[in-house]
Amino acid sequence: MRVVAEEEEDMLPSTPGKVKIERAGAMTRQLHRCFASTGTMFLWALFLVAMTATYLSFHSFVDTSSRYFAASWGGLHWERQIRASASPRRPPGSAEGAGLSVLVTGAAGFVGTHCSLALRKRGDGVVGIDNFNKYYDPSLKKARRALLASHGVFVVEGDINDGRLLTKLFDVVPFTHVLHLAAQAGVRYAMENPASYVHSNIAGLVSLLEACKEADPQPAVVWASSSSVYGLNNAVPFSEAHRTDRPASLYAATKKAGEEITHTYNHIYGLSVTGLRFFTVYGPWGRPDMAYFSFTRNILQGKPITVYRGRDHVDLARDFTYIDDIVRGCLASLDTAGRSTGTGGRKRGPAPYRIFNLGNTAPVTVPTLVSILERYLRVNAKRNVVEMPGNGDVPFTHANISLAREQLGYKPTTSLEMGLKKFVRWYLSYYGYNRGTQAFNNL
Ligand SMILES: NC(=O)c1ccc[n+]([C@@H]2O[C@H](COP(=O)([O-])OP(=O)(O)OC[C@H]3O[C@@H](n4cnc5c(N)ncnc54)[C@H](O)[C@@H]3O)[C@@H](O)[C@H]2O)c1
Repeated sequence: MRVVAEEEEDMLPSTPGKVKIERAGAMTRQLHRCFASTGTMFLWALFLVAMTATYLSFHSFVDTSSRYFAASWGGLHWERQIRASASPRRPPGSAEGAGLSVLVTGAAGFVGTHCSLALRKRGDGVVGIDNFNKYYDPSLKKARRALLASHGVFVVEGDINDGRLLTKLFDVVPFTHVLHLAAQAGVRYAMENPASYVHSNIAGLVSLLEACKEADPQPAVVWASSSSVYGLNNAVPFSEAHRTDRPASLYAATKKAGEEITHTYNHIYGLSVTGLRFFTVYGPWGRPDMAYFSFTRNILQGKPITVYRGRDHVDLARDFTYIDDIVRGCLASLDTAGRSTGTGGRKRGPAPYRIFNLGNTAPVTVPTLVSILERYLRVNAKRNVVEMPGNGDVPFTHANISLAREQLGYKPTTSLEMGLKKFVRWYLSYYGYNRGTQAFNNL
């Protein structure tokens, strides 16, 4: 007891300004005991390093898991918002019919925002879901969400891997369709963060399909595959009948896997599935990781741009497709998707399974793209032309769109010249370049 009392007393602060000599002496002796040998100091250092590492890994765990499941959802108010957003508002007896009720995944993304707006504008009900991850500037995703909110579209912040959230959404709304656009996009980033592709494009897809298959009624699913599934195929233009079993990147492999996975759910559970192979989509509110966007930013900031060139100095070419054309293709796919045939997770009969190319059928080389941007921006680019590294990019893409034309009435109408003009106008206005600058105002 006495020892304890002494220890307690030693822990009490002394009166400010008065140094207790003996106590100070005892403390110094204790400190000496602690740090006397190099071995003890080493142990202390080790202890500190371990504590710091534990703290940092805890933080990164919290960050990673919150990135995936940071959703705050539920409650009566939340359900009311979901129902209001999901309700079609087409006038009774309108030519287009009763109106769809669509769950759009990746709604705060580039294509997701445009499709959600277009659906809303023609009177369909739309609810979005997006995890607002940091693959590119989340403030752009939030600005898109604000735009959607101003048109009455509610976007839930959540991850498609969150099965409870998906089940809840289907409990609240009998969605007629799911437009699945959420994904980890980008070919090169797969070498940096392969797990994010598995998380969103494989695990997330299965989680979503599970929710769709369980829903009653089952929705029809329209989802974004990619032209990248053509991989090493070099027969042009790329047709849906061509080989897609030689992907050149992990991104492409996950999209190809998605086509097989959706086929399985179609076959076993009777889900109506339409896969859309988009070809390099561009336009206002686009993705900052894509070349046309980052070129614009660098050219305006006077920074060099890296232009890749294929083997034997062949220029890379892409079948750039303007966002409005893609949106029309997506909406036509929703409108023509046949019904799913399952109930209670069981198939009652065969359901449609379709795959379409959505491209522009007019490939343009990357140097031509740069020249168009230079003209609109009135700034010369500092080009750094380098050999294309083996990072999963393919030298060219070119879509055959006969099938989509025939079955969806798909007919792209925007040239790269016209589309880039609209993109540049948006870019300058969004990033505040054209305030008071006559040259840009005339664009
Ligand atoms: N833009 C193109 O050129 C292009 C070409 C081919 C295919 N695609 C495909 O089209 C779709 C839309 O592409 P985009 O250009 O709009 O990309 P985007 O990155 O702008 O949109 C995808 C959205 O999905 C969200 N998301 C990602 N993982 C999620 C998850 N696990 N849960 C919830 N939300 C998640 C992201 O936060 C993002 O907002 C993607 O599937 C993409 O792979 C796009």
